[in-house]
Amino acid sequence: MKKILIFASGNGSNFQAIAEHLLPKGIEIELLTDKEGCYACERAEKLGVKSHFVPFKQTEEFLKTAKYDLYVLAGYMRILPASVLQYGTFVNIHPSLLPKYKGMDAIKQAFDAGETECGVSVHYVTEEVDAGKIIEQRSIKVRPTLEETESEVHKLEHEMYPHIVGQLLGGKTPAL
Ligand code: GRF
Repeated sequence: MKKILIFASGNGSNFQAIAEHLLPKGIEIELLTDKEGCYACERAEKLGVKSHFVPFKQTEEFLKTAKYDLYVLAGYMRILPASVLQYGTFVNIHPSLLPKYKGMDAIKQAFDAGETECGVSVHYVTEEVDAGKIIEQRSIKVRPTLEETESEVHKLEHEMYPHIVGQLLGGKTPAL
């Protein structure tokens, strides 16, 4: 039985999409958050997923005590140091066509820059923010408004991430 730990700090829509896709397949899922009571925690409760509130400074301590097959960052608003990343394979989702538009407000950055294409990247996590090897990247056309573009990007995230996490757990690395 495979077991994953999803890291989220806020809304948790990607966490929910992954859980809804993988729980029925028998994958065990737990949530780690650095923000007690965040909306992701409420989603976890509704889904029957165990959640752990772990203040950022205690992350390494927590990971020493438990073993997971994969660590999945989904809106976790912290930069993990090498001392934490040594515990396993960490992946992240970022709403841009990396290496373009790293960091915060990536969709808005692309929209404001007048891009005609934007998208989503799933990548391995390294100490450098949004810079690890890309596992899969998909693009969509920028829509007339920022709100529509954001909504399409999030829809794409919810399609891509559960599928990719499932493939990684099956030992398959999705094609680049
Ligand atoms: C997503 O856009 C993800 O790409 C980025 O943070 C956002 C998290 O959204 N890393 P949610 O909390 O999963 O709804």
